Amino acid sequence: MLKIAVLISGGGSNLKALLDAADDPDFPARIVCVGSDTDASGLDHARAAGVPVFIERPRDAATREEWGERLAAAIRQHGVDGSDDSLVVSAGLMRILPAGFVRAFSPRLINTHPALLPAFPGAHAVRDALAAGATRTGVTVHVIDEGVDTGPVLRQEAVDVRPGESEEDLHERMKQLERPLLVRTVRDIALGELELPGAG
Ligand code: GRF
Repeated sequence: MLKIAVLISGGGSNLKALLDAADDPDFPARIVCVGSDTDASGLDHARAAGVPVFIERPRDAATREEWGERLAAAIRQHGVDGSDDSLVVSAGLMRILPAGFVRAFSPRLINTHPALLPAFPGAHAVRDALAAGATRTGVTVHVIDEGVDTGPVLRQEAVDVRPGESEEDLHERMKQLERPLLVRTVRDIALGELELPGAG
């Protein structure tokens, strides 16, 4: 059974989708902990599901790398250690993970991003797509490497932009595709049907 640590910063609707999927005894993965860099409201989804949560604030660490080490230690306490039966899912974590953390867990470290990478990396992908006049954007699940949203793409789904659509409305429509895409991707990794690049 695949053990998953989920990292979030916000409302956690992608986390909730994973928790709901993993509630089915037939789902081939279990969420063993949920971590955040802040007191994210989405942590309540984990608490309600009886999943342990932890908060590691960057300001409590002397350096970014030390923050990454603290995060890694908290995750390892729950048996997620980068080995083949474990996975770290960044689902709305609004921080760049330090290189040491990435080296410890990648490629068993994935992220969901609201754009069709390599287009529109970074923290404001939906806004940037609208500002560029894109008529199509989408969501990407990818392996995290040491760059910002540059790791190998695993799955993508496209969304047409409606004329005059607000950033909030577009992002909400995208998230309706993003949640099932993330759940399917995690399931396929757990079943060994989707190979992670570089994994043994
Ligand atoms: C998602 O669209 C994710 O791709 C982006 O932030 C959003 C998080 O949403 N990085 P939620 O907290 O899962 O509702």
